[in-house]
Amino acid sequence: MNYISVQNINNLSDWVKDALKIKKNPLKNKKLGKHKTLGMLFFNPSLRTRLSTQKAALNLGMNVMVMNFTNEGWTLEFEDGAIMNKGASEHIKEAAEVVSQYCDIVAIRAFAGLVDKEKDNAETVLAGFLKYATVPIVNMEGCTGHPLQSLADAITMEEHKTAHRPKVVLSWAPHPRALPQAVANSFVEMMQLQDADFVITHPEGYELNPEITKDSKIEYDQDKAFENADFIYTKNWSNYNDYGKITNSDPNWTVNAAKMALTNNAKFMHCLPVRRNVVVADEVLDSENSIVIEQANNRTYAAQLVLQKILKNEQ
Ligand code: CP
Repeated sequence: MNYISVQNINNLSDWVKDALKIKKNPLKNKKLGKHKTLGMLFFNPSLRTRLSTQKAALNLGMNVMVMNFTNEGWTLEFEDGAIMNKGASEHIKEAAEVVSQYCDIVAIRAFAGLVDKEKDNAETVLAGFLKYATVPIVNMEGCTGHPLQSLADAITMEEHKTAHRPKVVLSWAPHPRALPQAVANSFVEMMQLQDADFVITHPEGYELNPEITKDSKIEYDQDKAFENADFIYTKNWSNYNDYGKITNSDPNWTVNAAKMALTNNAKFMHCLPVRRNVVVADEVLDSENSIVIEQANNRTYAAQLVLQKILKNEQ
C-alpha cells in the first residue's frame, strides 16, 4: 500500500476512529516496526511533518533515517532517456532502487515549483519514486496534495465537532509569498468524504483545480460564507489559473475576530506554519477557539495510522 492521496483512504470514518484509538494508546504497537526502517526524504523544509512522522515511526518501534535531499543529496534527473550532461548527477531510477534497499517505507516531501503547472500536476518526484522504488511510498506533501495533513484535520474535526452536520468553511487568506495549492486540495478532497455543509471561499479568480473541487460549493463573499460556520479552515494558495502568481493580497481577507463573530462560535484551524496578522489576527489564533496546536498534535496519529497500515499490509 502507498499513501499518496486522500483517495487512498477507503473509509475515512474508520480511519479516523482507528487514529483516535492510536492517540489513546500510542505505544500499543511498539514492536510492530522492529527492525523496519522509515526513510524520510525532504526536498523542502518542514517542522511538523518531519517531527510528527518521525515520532509516529518511533512509536511503532521503527528506525528512522532522514535526508534533506536538496542540499545533501545528488541532484536528480527524472526524465527517462535523458542525456545527463547538465546539472543532474543521478537518475531517479538508481536513486529510488538504492533507497529501497535501505528502507522498508520511503516518505517524500517535494513541493510544487509553481512555474510549470503541467510539471507540478505530474508530481515528478513522487511519480519517479512510485515508478522505481520497490517499497511503499508515503506522501509528506507533494505538488498537489498533503494527505497526511488532511487526515490529521479530519481527526481534529471529529474531536471538536458539536453539530451533527457541521458547516465547514475553507477560507483563502492573503500571504506575501506564492504558496502551493496542496493543503487546500487535500482538505477539499477530505471534506468531500465527510457529511458536512462544506463551502470554499476565496476571491474571484482564485479557484482551485476544478477536477479537485468538483461540485463543492464556492462563495466569493467571505462574510456570507462565514455565517453560522462551525469550523473555519484558513489557508493561502497562489493563483491556479494564473499559475503560481499572487494576484490578490487584499488584507480584508485576513481572518479576524469580527469575521469569527459571524460564525456559530467556530473553531479556527490552520495547518501551520502561519503568518500572524497576515493570514489570521493574533486575537483569533490566540483565542480559545483556535485548535491549531491540537491539529498539529494529531499529525503524529495520522502518520502512525498510515505507517501501521503499511506495516500490517492492510487497506
Ligand atoms: N503543516 C505542515 O505540513 O507543517 P510543516 O511544513 O512544518 O511540516
